[in-house]
Amino acid sequence: MVLKRSIWLICCLLLHQVSQEECASYQKEDVKYWYSLSQRALRDSLALTLNNNVAKNVILFLGDGMSLPTIMAARVLKGQRMGRRGEETWLTWENFPHSCLIKTYNANTQVSDSASTATAYLCGVKNNYETVGVSAAANHSECFTTFGAEVSSILQWAQEEGKDTGFVTTARVTHATPAALYAHSVNRDWESDDKIPYNSTKCKDIARQLVEDVPGRDIKVILGGGRRHFFSNHIMDPEEDQYHLRKDGRDLVTEWTNDKARRHASFAFVTTTKEFQTININKTDYLLGLFSYSHMQYELERNKGPEGEPSIAEMTKTAIKMLQKNSNGYFLLIEGARIDHGHHDTLARHALEETLTLEKAVNEALLMTSRDDTLVIVTADHSQVMTVNGYAKRGTPILGFAGVSNVDNLPYTTLMYTNGPGYSKGGHRANLTGVDTTHKDYQQLSLVPMTEETHGGEDVALYAIGPMAHLFHGVQEQTYVAHAMAYTSCVGHNKEHCQKKPQEQYENCGVKSAFRNTLLAICFVVFFI
Ligand SMILES: *[C@@H]1O[C@H](CO)[C@@H](O)[C@H](O)[C@H]1NC(C)=O
Ligand SMILES: *[C@@H]1O[C@H](CO)[C@@H](O)[C@H](O)[C@H]1NC(C)=O
Ligand SMILES: *[C@@H]1O[C@H](CO)[C@@H](O)[C@H](O)[C@H]1NC(C)=O
Ligand SMILES: *[C@@H]1O[C@H](CO)[C@@H](O)[C@H](O)[C@H]1NC(C)=O
Ligand SMILES: [Zn+2]
Repeated sequence: MVLKRSIWLICCLLLHQVSQEECASYQKEDVKYWYSLSQRALRDSLALTLNNNVAKNVILFLGDGMSLPTIMAARVLKGQRMGRRGEETWLTWENFPHSCLIKTYNANTQVSDSASTATAYLCGVKNNYETVGVSAAANHSECFTTFGAEVSSILQWAQEEGKDTGFVTTARVTHATPAALYAHSVNRDWESDDKIPYNSTKCKDIARQLVEDVPGRDIKVILGGGRRHFFSNHIMDPEEDQYHLRKDGRDLVTEWTNDKARRHASFAFVTTTKEFQTININKTDYLLGLFSYSHMQYELERNKGPEGEPSIAEMTKTAIKMLQKNSNGYFLLIEGARIDHGHHDTLARHALEETLTLEKAVNEALLMTSRDDTLVIVTADHSQVMTVNGYAKRGTPILGFAGVSNVDNLPYTTLMYTNGPGYSKGGHRANLTGVDTTHKDYQQLSLVPMTEETHGGEDVALYAIGPMAHLFHGVQEQTYVAHAMAYTSCVGHNKEHCQKKPQEQYENCGVKSAFRNTLLAICFVVFFI
């Protein structure tokens, strides 16, 4: 305990650069503490200058289903792992200077899915539920409504200005979020031809669009999962012991490599961490990594060995190094996809771990880039129905119990879901006394029985740092994100302002916060050895 306290004091001194006395008051959270903390925040706010540079690079971090309750709970979990009570902790992006709220409804539903939201924040247009890269003129599953309704994404606009582009996802690379970058499909499930009904064969599956069409075939970095949509259903996946899915017998990876070879470009296709780590970034123009049969593994279950899968932070690092080779800049999407999957199974622990894993990737990106020329955004596509309930005392384990119901006298956890598979079986609430609710496989209780938890319809938050990050303010429609990113990076529709701006130097507060986070990481490690 004494040792822990001394380490905490050293960390506090290093991180906050205040006196020992002030650090002591941080632990007490007395009047002096709140004054000191808030006065410092006030001075920071008053000293805020607008960064009007043009963003040469844009990096968009998308936490799929990373609702505000998810962010709050992840923040507490992070703090508690550092031996603190937790609530007072900050995630990296919570130190960004600008933020806004985003309205996530789509053209025909109050609560959205990831395909329609991705079309909003990447293509700048709201459309129908479970459709992707098409406007609201296209109806779900009606193949012929695709044609003429296609909308283009910021990734394509960036390519048109000579920038390099890429994406990283822990889901399948043909899944809803990345699909909005390069595909037009009236059904997000049409990832390969086996999913397309016989009356709709005029529609091209999403994997083929990625390999064959513009802008998909010009994407320099594609990292994620989903091999099953690229190979024939006569072929067994070597790692998964399952057949791939394509009915047309095509080998899209060979088609992808043939296309690059035909264009005299260098390329690499990798499926394991070992292969991934041995690529020569300087000598690789195009990189395709398909690390799993379907989605990549949850961080807690990830095979971290050479035959396993790289982490999202490692993929982020490589993606940035690949794209930094282009002096015109780049657009990069990084999706922490499995926050959403944890929630759908009401496995809150996984959702929080995936959020903290995404934070590591954000830290990498901040260390590798400059606030002068790189806009970094962290946001979510939609909310979830997990809520933080009860009146737990400060420092109560966030995955633990909030208290006992004064009606049925049974304990309940702080994190719960309004619907989902964690519902009470047998008509009465389970007695959770003695249950380890912090275990990764513990399913939080849900009220309405559903095989899968649904998304939530309230706003999500967006955090921004770098050139024109201040454009992200107030409450905005989700479509605004694409338009504002395009404006700051001089792609798409708004390029009038692009010629005149001299590059100015701005205080590198992102790097400062990345530095702080590195220190925090060290503090974290020290606590656990
Ligand atoms: C699309 O859906 C709308 C609303 O349900 C319907 O009125 C319209 O007829 C549909 N269009 C086509 C081409 O199916
Ligand atoms: C195509 O078939 C599916 C079922 O296989 C049906 O739901 C859909 O309405 C059909 N679409 C058209 C355009 O006929
Ligand atoms: C790759 O190129 C960069 C920039 O030209 C250079 O700094 C770096 O050393 C090169 N790395 C390798 C492994 O060749
Ligand atoms: C719940 O289980 C615990 C331990 O088995 C028991 O002590 C308690 O009385 C139970 N609560 C109710 C309301 O049944
Ligand atoms: Zn979802």
